Amino acid sequence: MSDAPVTLAATIRRGVAGDAAAAAEVYLTSRRGAGALIPRLAHTEDDVRTWFATTVLVEREVWVAEVGGRVVGVMVLRGDFVDLLYVHPESQRRGVGSRLLSQAKRGRSRVRLYTFESNEPARDFYEQRGFKAIAFGDGTGNEEGAPDVLYEWRGILR
Ligand SMILES: CC(C)(COP(=O)(O)OP(=O)(O)OC[C@H]1O[C@@H](n2cnc3c(N)ncnc32)[C@H](O)[C@@H]1OP(=O)(O)O)[C@@H](O)C(=O)NCCC(=O)NCCS
Repeated sequence: MSDAPVTLAATIRRGVAGDAAAAAEVYLTSRRGAGALIPRLAHTEDDVRTWFATTVLVEREVWVAEVGGRVVGVMVLRGDFVDLLYVHPESQRRGVGSRLLSQAKRGRSRVRLYTFESNEPARDFYEQRGFKAIAFGDGTGNEEGAPDVLYEWRGILR
């Protein structure tokens, strides 16, 4: 029997106000699961939960990936910027992040995002999906104070 991971049959849909708590937990759990690849949060986890409920799900373009009625991935967009893309550790490497990123590319000819320089798996993930590093920051541009990389994808508007 093969132990290769199986692609999850996730539903990709717009996030709504009622997803705030589940989306925040996916973000927090995924970020925790990334360990030293991602620097420590600059805010408390409760502040993050409040930010999701009062700002993210209210003002941003949010997409969630749902499997069996459970949110397993979240992506937050602002214009052509992916502000946040996180998949629950138990659902990673099963195609969910790729599906969410494809959704970001849909209807856009350019997508940009920042990732921490230390987050090699995420950088590989974006580079294998056509993103190019266009600027390197020393950490003065983000709340965590950690070096980051600006990535850009350019494509044909579909
Ligand atoms: C980075 C991240 C968003 C990618 O999402 P993901 O759902 O794990 O990504 P996918 O499963 O779509 O693709 C990841 C890999 O799994 C592989 N994969 C996807 N489906 C697969 C399947 N059914 N079987 C085997 N491998 C599979 C892909 O080929 C890909 O490998 P590659 O990058 O070497 O090509 C996710 O891993 C994550 O949340 N990481 C922690 C937080 C983080 O770093 N977020 C980004 C901050 S900028």
